[in-house]
Amino acid sequence: MSKIIKKVAIIGAGFTGKQIAAIAALYDFNVSLFDINIDTLAEAKKYISGFLKRKKKNDALKNVSYYSDMSEAVSDVDLVIEAVPENLELKRKVFSQIDSLAPAKTIIATNSSSYPVSRIESAVKRKNKVLNIHFYPPIPTRPMADIMRGSETSDETFEIGKNWIINIGCEPLIVKKECFGFVFNRIWHAVKKECLKMWAGGYADIEVIDTAWKIFTKMKLGPFTMMDGIGLDVAYAVEMSYYKESGDPKDKPPQAFRAMVERGDLGLKTGKGFYTWKKKK
Ligand SMILES: NC(=O)c1ccc[n+]([C@@H]2O[C@H](COP(=O)([O-])OP(=O)(O)OC[C@H]3O[C@@H](n4cnc5c(N)ncnc54)[C@H](O)[C@@H]3O)[C@@H](O)[C@H]2O)c1
Repeated sequence: MSKIIKKVAIIGAGFTGKQIAAIAALYDFNVSLFDINIDTLAEAKKYISGFLKRKKKNDALKNVSYYSDMSEAVSDVDLVIEAVPENLELKRKVFSQIDSLAPAKTIIATNSSSYPVSRIESAVKRKNKVLNIHFYPPIPTRPMADIMRGSETSDETFEIGKNWIINIGCEPLIVKKECFGFVFNRIWHAVKKECLKMWAGGYADIEVIDTAWKIFTKMKLGPFTMMDGIGLDVAYAVEMSYYKESGDPKDKPPQAFRAMVERGDLGLKTGKGFYTWKKKK
């Protein structure tokens, strides 16, 4: 196995895939970007070119190639990052395709927000060369990625993955054993869970909680504003996934939160969530 990553393929050029491609190109990795949707590829090219130009790295534009054929995209790469939608069966199918098309040396990682790679690994033969490498967009302003093993991942694979994360200017958040939510998503879940309980229980208003968070952390946005931005349907589904995983009633999101989602008050995108927003025209 090559101990140094030189060429990377990103499978899925959507919201996160294009950002991973951009950051890898910025750090002079050779990047192949593949998507089944050519419009998405064109949009990704626009984003990546704009990003690299803003960073005054015009010479890095040549680092990225765009593909609508997966076999070409993965033909000689050292690492593949899968960033297709969060659907376990789809991820297993894509892993299996990559396994049959990529060279034997290639490490395959998933950017999944929730599935441990141990639930995907049976779709491939190279079970010692799989990883979770999970980013936190916007990657340029949140330079960190969780890294977690599958049940047969070798130490060598883990080390190579960790060094690649460092080499693209990110902090590797090492998950020592399989953990739902990895490192930071797990911490962030704990924060949101308590904020939601305080709001639903009538202990404090959302404005007070957001203000306290902003003063304490020096962040620009509080948890309720951030949930409105992400979309309350997505935020609710994430909280439900922790509840389903633990089965602990304390993890169950408040009924009042569920009611908002059922009413269609989904935050920024619908104009109403925890806060009232001006709808985009
Ligand atoms: N959105 C986030 O904030 C975020 C953060 C961290 C991790 N993730 C994870 O990243 C993954 C992708 O999420 P996203 O938000 O970028 O989704 P997205 O919908 O923006 O992008 C997914 C892309 O995959 C493409 N695609 C679908 N099927 C494909 C296939 N068979 N082969 C190749 N491409 C295919 C789609 O055309 C789309 O462009 C998910 O697993 C998600 O959990 C998302």
